[in-house]
Amino acid sequence: MSITSIKGMNDLLPGDVETWQYLEEQARQVFGAFGYREIRVPVVEKTDLFCRSIGETTDIVEKEMYTFSDKGGTSMTLRPEGTAPVMRAFIQHKLYAKDPVSKLYYLGPMFRHERPQKGRYRQFHQIGAEVVGIDDPKIDAQVLAMLSHYFATTKIPDVALQINSLGCPECRPTYREALTKFLEQRLSALCADCQRRYTSNPLRVLDCKVPGCKEATIEAPAMLDNLCIGCDTHFNQVKEHLDELSVDYTVNPRMVRGLDYYTRTTFEMVTSSLGAQNAVAAGGRYNGLISDLGGPDLPGIGFAIGLERLALMLGEQSIAPPRPELFIATLGEAATKAGFALLTRLQRQGFLAEMEYTGKSLKAQLRRADKLKTRRVLILGEDELARGIAQLRYMDKSFQEEVALEGLETRLINEINGETNDA
Ligand code: HAM
Repeated sequence: MSITSIKGMNDLLPGDVETWQYLEEQARQVFGAFGYREIRVPVVEKTDLFCRSIGETTDIVEKEMYTFSDKGGTSMTLRPEGTAPVMRAFIQHKLYAKDPVSKLYYLGPMFRHERPQKGRYRQFHQIGAEVVGIDDPKIDAQVLAMLSHYFATTKIPDVALQINSLGCPECRPTYREALTKFLEQRLSALCADCQRRYTSNPLRVLDCKVPGCKEATIEAPAMLDNLCIGCDTHFNQVKEHLDELSVDYTVNPRMVRGLDYYTRTTFEMVTSSLGAQNAVAAGGRYNGLISDLGGPDLPGIGFAIGLERLALMLGEQSIAPPRPELFIATLGEAATKAGFALLTRLQRQGFLAEMEYTGKSLKAQLRRADKLKTRRVLILGEDELARGIAQLRYMDKSFQEEVALEGLETRLINEINGETNDA
């Protein structure tokens, strides 16, 4: 039996990959304009990094991590997310000593052992962005403005921004206590998971998808009504700045995130077009994370976009593969040699050119040229080669002319460059 890929880990084939390249390229452009620079970190980290940052009682750490011991006995984990590794690198390389503000972005695979379904995979890809060093609400609003702008420029339909505040170590413990008390009264109505976590991580109960839990918590106290003055002011200013920047949002007081490092502003970009997996991007502020990981006491905020979900949403609008500028069809050995040399010269100069390598009939070569949707075909036979000419066929214009081989390369390059400049 042949070997297949691992469940929940997908191949990305030509035809789909163009959509991904488009999404990645747009991210580089948009994030670049907002001052972010790329960072690349390993896909495997010491397990402790994720336990300390994401939180021991989260679903990710409790159930979903790909953790193993390497040959030296060190516990390692395939990264389930990017924020913790990026902050680890930020601290390790003392990026704060080079610049008081760091704006970083990253792209790559993440791994979570979840039950695969549409929009949820075990290897999935995120584009993430993080800002370290600014607590000002302006930066929260700007991060959200950038995220919204990215969705607008990539023409992702049907997304809405929801925001919330999860408070800080000053106000959250009191709220947590009030919520635990509320849940205690309704314990029998909660699912087994929530009965277990109502003391260890009561906020997660608000996020439970089980209908019974949803109903039992309709009247649960909200973090937003229990913010300290600092967090309340911060949240109000974030909203004011969002209004000033014309960023649309709604406040969702029930939003809790699946990672424990968040403080103050949290947010999700949601869609109704992906069923249960409705978050296409998510993030928030994490003011205590860097110091918890042994770094300086610096605030941070960021988000990650789920690339598979974006690609699903773009769906039909998939991006066409690039069209060859020239297909060289040849007849006879000497013509094939000359054609092959011209092909390579054009490719070396950066032009997409193709030919058939295995001596097929002219008809078969033209069929392939058609299939590749090439713009031009150069037909070169032995006779033509001897006379120093070839036939150049323009496929879109159904027009063909005899051209001299001498100077042909320059002519083609000028023509293609001219078309690109006109476009
Ligand atoms: P997250 O909410 O766990 O946050 O993931 C962010 C996004 O990754 C989700 O909204 C979703 O689009 C995508 N995603 C998550 N799990 C899967 C999966 N199993 N299959 C497909 N897509 C998935 C974080 O990861 C945080 N690090 C975000 C962040 C950055 N917060 C601050 N900075």
